[in-house]
Amino acid sequence: MYQPIQWKNDHILLLDQTRLPGEEVYIECRDIDAAADAIKRLAVRGAPALGVVAAMAVALEARNIQSSSTEGFYQELRKLCDRILSTRPTAVNMAWSLKRVQDTLQKTHISDISALKKLLEQEALAIFKEDIEANRQIGRHGQELVPDSATIVTICNTGSLATAGYGTAFGVMRAAAESGKKILVVSCETRPLLQGCRLTAWELQKNNIPFVLITDSMAGYYMKKRGANLVIIGADRIAANGDAANKIGSYSLAILAHHHQVPFYVAAPLSTIDPDTRQGEDIQIEERKPEEITCIGTQRIAPHGTAVWNPAFDVVPSSLIAGFITEKGVLRPPYQESLQKVLREAR
Ligand code: MRU
Repeated sequence: MYQPIQWKNDHILLLDQTRLPGEEVYIECRDIDAAADAIKRLAVRGAPALGVVAAMAVALEARNIQSSSTEGFYQELRKLCDRILSTRPTAVNMAWSLKRVQDTLQKTHISDISALKKLLEQEALAIFKEDIEANRQIGRHGQELVPDSATIVTICNTGSLATAGYGTAFGVMRAAAESGKKILVVSCETRPLLQGCRLTAWELQKNNIPFVLITDSMAGYYMKKRGANLVIIGADRIAANGDAANKIGSYSLAILAHHHQVPFYVAAPLSTIDPDTRQGEDIQIEERKPEEITCIGTQRIAPHGTAVWNPAFDVVPSSLIAGFITEKGVLRPPYQESLQKVLREAR
């Protein structure tokens, strides 16, 4: 239907998400700077998609590494990884995929540099393929939690645009709809950059899934007046204790769900779990430029000189999360144990 990330051997083709839903325009990333720029300005976004593009960008740029020693090659490779990692700090999938490609190379003990460069490319493509499969499994497990005629509230965009394909939280909704359940998705618009309004609404329409668009501040009143069966969101990083960082507004949504006794689920692949981050407090939250709040597009909406705080993400405490929907099944509390166990078994 649409393929937001395409590997074209000498470039990466990306559907420019800043232009959606108005225009379906693809951009060509021919080097690491172009990919870093696309990531920084959210032309490509969503934690699993970032992991895939990071690995592809490094594979592409590594072709230009001149070093004739493997040691020099790995040194240059690390610099490329750091370049991409510096673009957006919260989504752990980038660090995960870049660690994976480096580990894979090192484990082979290959010293032929052109073979290592080829292997980088193969691994990036494997990450891409495996993410689609993981999302399908997330969908399969998650749809079992969705009753027929369910209303599902979500925030941000977790669809094909945010992953290698199919989607995480979006994939659960998609799988429920594909299994014949009649569902209604309530998409929060997701201020300030409107991923829910611009991207999720676009993908829901493309997939013929019925939905209602609301502003973020309407979620509580929606739950009270119209009711909801589930909230399902994605994640950018899940700490070892089950605290989960996701798009700003997720925390408020979790509190509202708790108040209205609506089960709150986080759908994410295992690559989003970060066992090295102990708790939510330790997750670095990206802060973005004030203009994302003081302007809509190029139109200024706040007075000049307005002070702004613009964190791109917040953290949902594990106590508010009913379960994590992963490719290995639905994980339940206590998360310290269930997260550790699933990672151990997946190794
Ligand atoms: O700033 P964004 O648009 O990259 O934020 C994305 C999200 O918060 C998603 O919910 C998360 O990355 C999971 S995507 C499957």
